[in-house]
Amino acid sequence: MKLTLKIWRQKNANTKGELKTYPIDGIEGDMSFLEMLDVLNEGLINKGDEPVVFDHDCREGICGACSLQINGEPHGPDRLVTTCQLHMRMFNDGDTIVIEPFRAKAFPVIKDLVVDRSAFDRIQQAGGYISVNTSGNTIDANTIPINKHDADESFEAATCIGCGACVAACKNASAMLFTSAKVSQFALLPQGRIEATERVLNMVAQMDKEGFGNCTNTGACEIECPKGISLENIARMNREYLSASLKG
Ligand code: SF4
Ligand code: FES
Repeated sequence: MKLTLKIWRQKNANTKGELKTYPIDGIEGDMSFLEMLDVLNEGLINKGDEPVVFDHDCREGICGACSLQINGEPHGPDRLVTTCQLHMRMFNDGDTIVIEPFRAKAFPVIKDLVVDRSAFDRIQQAGGYISVNTSGNTIDANTIPINKHDADESFEAATCIGCGACVAACKNASAMLFTSAKVSQFALLPQGRIEATERVLNMVAQMDKEGFGNCTNTGACEIECPKGISLENIARMNREYLSASLKG
């Protein structure tokens, strides 16, 4: 395949960026999107040009690092896949592909296609943990009976990889889907109920402090989420928040 790539280039957080055009040839349908960028970078390095900087780690849909806005969609045109799992067969010979970083005030661009998503880490630190007695009297988790439905819902919420596509997809740059997944995975389990009140209050307060927008129920986050995190988590977080506020 022969393609035209329009890629966001930006030296650092303090400079203005712009889209630059790169023609590329010899791309196979079985290559992943990141392998296609590797081919581009190899060519740039061989010519003595600066390679395009992009985030990646596991390259198998687990770590959430590979966050790219591809033709206006976080993680590109396929569904339930991350950018590293996106195959070039989703594109046609002769296509122009626009590649940008995730856009949100709370995700400032560091360089080219890499954004700073440490705001997510700070939301996690505000409440994404439980207290466990490790004094020698630890109760085996398997001895606590948990309703199968709750266990499944909790597991599904826990599959959020913190990629930030939900924020990039949202016209308000809201982080409600991410935060609600992190609240839900604990709210559904007895082990998570101990800090439930302060968890939801603190995580939502941190989310607001980071400058993420409000949720207006457009549902774009759920559509673009590579892990299929459901909007039901947002409804659950809202219920948790209301009950925590009434207690507080
Ligand atoms: S909710 Fe989905 S889109 Fe948002 S950070 Fe988690 S995995 Fe990524
Ligand atoms: S590189 Fe880890 S999810 Fe894509």
